[in-house]
Amino acid sequence: MDTLWRMLRSNRAVSEDRSILSLFDDPARFDDFSVSTAGMLLDYSKTSIDTDARRLLVQLAEEAGVEAQREAMFGGEKINRSEDRAVLHTALRNQNGPVMLGGADVMPDVRATLTRMASFASALRNGEIKAADGGPITEVISIGIGGSDLGPAMGVKALGAYHDGPKVRFVSNIDGAHFTEASKRADPARTLVIVASKTFTTIETMTNAETAKKWLGAGAESQMVAISSALDKTAAFGIPADRVFGFEDWVGGRYSIWGPIGLPIMLAVGPQCFGEFLDGGSAMDTHFCNAPLAENMPVLLALTGIWHRNICDYPTRATLPYDQRLSRLPAYLQQLDMESNGKCVTADGKPVTQLTGPVIWGQAGTNGQHAFYQLLHQGTNVVPCEFMVAAEGFEPALQHHHELLKANCLAQSEALMRGRASKNMRPCREFPGNRPSTTLAYKKLTPFVLGQIIALYEHRVFVEGVIWGINSFDQWGVELGKEMATALVPLVQGADASDKDGSTQGLLKALDAG
Ligand code: F6P
Repeated sequence: MDTLWRMLRSNRAVSEDRSILSLFDDPARFDDFSVSTAGMLLDYSKTSIDTDARRLLVQLAEEAGVEAQREAMFGGEKINRSEDRAVLHTALRNQNGPVMLGGADVMPDVRATLTRMASFASALRNGEIKAADGGPITEVISIGIGGSDLGPAMGVKALGAYHDGPKVRFVSNIDGAHFTEASKRADPARTLVIVASKTFTTIETMTNAETAKKWLGAGAESQMVAISSALDKTAAFGIPADRVFGFEDWVGGRYSIWGPIGLPIMLAVGPQCFGEFLDGGSAMDTHFCNAPLAENMPVLLALTGIWHRNICDYPTRATLPYDQRLSRLPAYLQQLDMESNGKCVTADGKPVTQLTGPVIWGQAGTNGQHAFYQLLHQGTNVVPCEFMVAAEGFEPALQHHHELLKANCLAQSEALMRGRASKNMRPCREFPGNRPSTTLAYKKLTPFVLGQIIALYEHRVFVEGVIWGINSFDQWGVELGKEMATALVPLVQGADASDKDGSTQGLLKALDAG
């Protein structure tokens, strides 16, 4: 791969002074540098990638073994080597026959869990499942953090146009303010509390779960549901087995939205819409597994990422959905990408030879335009921008809003690329331009489209990880801070801190409430 990296850098050296805009001298540029699947279009023509660069990037993916790794993942091999686990979240949305793991098909269990979720969701939504006092359940509080929170919280918001079930609130932070604020307008007699934690040991979730149990009062367990891989721990917590939805260790936390962790979404929008969400993910899987690399949407999105990170040296990238209901997507993708690809050793434990995951950040447009776009247009760091926009909104009476939204999205990518010379020679009015972006365009934010988007980004992260030679499915980097927090609790409560560094001792004193 070294030769390819070198050739790519030479290509960049040659093309660096060429404007992105000049690439459109070729009238076929847009058609040639965009890719479609199942009604979704990814335009990557507003980047500096030219035909040679794309050919080299595709070769890079080939040489890195993307196709073999893809087969290994879908085939149930233990590609998460540091945790000795398969990576089969795709089975949760699979519609293509058996998925084998260690000689057995996992699909019967996957379908059985989905059926249980659907029965539970329907019964709760139609009032058959009642609160401890026999009254209706009208609200849900879902407690979880990281992958056990970001996915359902993002999904419930994203599918707001389909939300016809109970109100769903989310509590993640260990800060007591979060539970207090979420529960303050809820009635414990009418609320179902979901405790979502793969491990059922996460300190934030278990602390909030204990608080919720007290808040619910007598009969709390009958108004609680657990979602976890640790069935012994859910039982020890006191949640009856028929209120526990389990999932396997081959579903990583940040990839778990497709199964029981997605229950809050199913409660909000119903089993049918949730099924359409799974269909969308499955459609993207089919495309990812079958399309040639040079016409493969997740692969091409990954290769633009590699180009910007490794060849252009851009340290961050922005996720900019022009779709208010996707306002939680940047945070969701931040975990998906940064927890997966923020690694400095390879899957073999050697130092990486290329820069790995960039900083992922963003916000829904148009709000960001009035906050940080100043830096996008005139700052000293170039930030590749990933725009998303729907052809149609859900508010026919507000059609003009949607037209303005689309115009703003297109204006931003054009302005970033085109820039503008100052008319009156004032440098502060100049826009350097030549700043890259991609745009993902889709008809409407349906459950199916949401499934496509999430699966697209999962596979993009996977392909980038394969090219960097890292394990995208572990997260050892979160451990040290967790261990130190546990050790610091007694010190916060007043125990001797003399073996701590000066800063920690000083801060402990400053934060001593006594
Ligand atoms: O701390 C990181 C992490 O392990 C994530 O990977 C995970 O999504 C989150 O914590 C929550 O973990 P759990 O579902 O086990 O509570």
